[in-house]
Amino acid sequence: MTADTHDFCRQCQESAPAVSIENVRRYVAGVDQTVPIIGGRQVPYVSLDNAATTPAFQPAIDCMVRFFQWYSSVHRGSGFKSMLSTHVYERCREVVARFVGADLDYHTLIFVQNATHALNKLATRVCMPKGHLVIATVMEHHSNMLPWRRLGCSAEFAAVDPLDGTLDMADMEDRIRRNAGRLCLVTVTGGSNVTGVMPPIRRIARLAHEHGALIGVDATQLVAHRHFLMGAPDDPEHVDFAAFSAHKMYAPFGSGVLVGPRRVFERGLPDMVGGGTISAVTMDEVIWADPPERDEAGTPNVPGALALAAAIQTLQSIGMEEVAEHERQLTRRALAGLKAMNGVRLYGPTDADLGEDRLAVIAMTLAGLTHAQAAAALAHEWGIGVRNGCFCAQPYVRQLLGVTDDEMRQVMRDLAAGDHAGVPGMIRMSPGVYNTAEEVDYFLDAVRQLLADGPQGRYVLDACHMDYVPDPPAFSLDQYAPL
Ligand SMILES: Cc1ncc(COP(=O)(O)O)c(C=O)c1O
Repeated sequence: MTADTHDFCRQCQESAPAVSIENVRRYVAGVDQTVPIIGGRQVPYVSLDNAATTPAFQPAIDCMVRFFQWYSSVHRGSGFKSMLSTHVYERCREVVARFVGADLDYHTLIFVQNATHALNKLATRVCMPKGHLVIATVMEHHSNMLPWRRLGCSAEFAAVDPLDGTLDMADMEDRIRRNAGRLCLVTVTGGSNVTGVMPPIRRIARLAHEHGALIGVDATQLVAHRHFLMGAPDDPEHVDFAAFSAHKMYAPFGSGVLVGPRRVFERGLPDMVGGGTISAVTMDEVIWADPPERDEAGTPNVPGALALAAAIQTLQSIGMEEVAEHERQLTRRALAGLKAMNGVRLYGPTDADLGEDRLAVIAMTLAGLTHAQAAAALAHEWGIGVRNGCFCAQPYVRQLLGVTDDEMRQVMRDLAAGDHAGVPGMIRMSPGVYNTAEEVDYFLDAVRQLLADGPQGRYVLDACHMDYVPDPPAFSLDQYAPL
């Protein structure tokens, strides 16, 4: 079956719209949705939490919905629909591989649940207890930190500059040089989900390779915002492994990707075993399947892979350079506006001219307000969605905030006693490709007013979710829940 001959594939290709920076908002699901705020008003939702989850591109949803007419079992099903499902799934693998420059003769591309799953899977393959070492960094998301601290793996974490949150390259280089011979992997984020810092992954890759190690990149924050390529295997600056999640790439929750050299996944046991992972099983023996099947236990998420591939096609239609430039403009505008306000403390690089490239992820605290109060007021008084807390990067956020060990011990005691009110944190705004300059200005106005007048509503701490909520409640979520 060729992709172009079947109706489903043809319909998806023919109906894929020409999406550009100018018209992208037309193709983002729910972009004009209004939401309730205190006082009973409805306002357009301003989503500035794309570092957590992006909304889905409508063409990705349409493609997935159309697929449900053809949807059936994958792998080894003999009916037409099964053959088509398998065909579509494998096509998606090719689309995603091309997007990151993976060569499926050399690499394997494994569909997983999300980036966390991908990084845990990688750790089970690369973590050797026999004195081998993995170097990560203090700026990692917990998903690229905790997998390396278990399974008997030895892990070290390169330092960050406590002032601007950039990676301390002298420390990274020193650790790599000192550990040559027992270093098996350097794993580093492609872009911080706290400060938007983009460590020099090509330089780190070269260093790792020169010292006999492989390099993994947690590309979760990078792939939907910059043109990212694995690089040719004979290029000293190539990346060996990359991990990312579909729900941060304008596709729905539930699928993610791990890419790496096929040979690594041809040996060792998969992290999860069962159906789909074997060639043969007797009561005494198992012959494992070849990659990627060996690492895709159970029935795979074909609609998720399809939505991811379709979202990638939309990103490609816009052009990754255009995506990056649009997001840089929003970042410049946001940083310039925030720097002009007394009472905003920014974390990470603050250069509004972006002398050094960085992602559109901006963390801050507001004088006189806790992070939870500020986020609640933005949500309930302006309809703005940001993220607050430590963004699953507690060691990094703690360093940037300058929280001492004693203070942290006190926080841990308070938490153990059920008191969450004093947990340190920041708020984070993270615009995406579909956000506008007007939305950034709206956010800046809201911050300015909050700093000047404080929250206008009365809030109480919701003991269940540990968020501040209006008292009395401004709405009932039951009214909006589909079930
Ligand atoms: C840099 C980074 N890595 C990994 C993850 C984990 O992604 P997921 O929750 O989709 O597994 C995140 C999520 O915020 C992230 O920002």
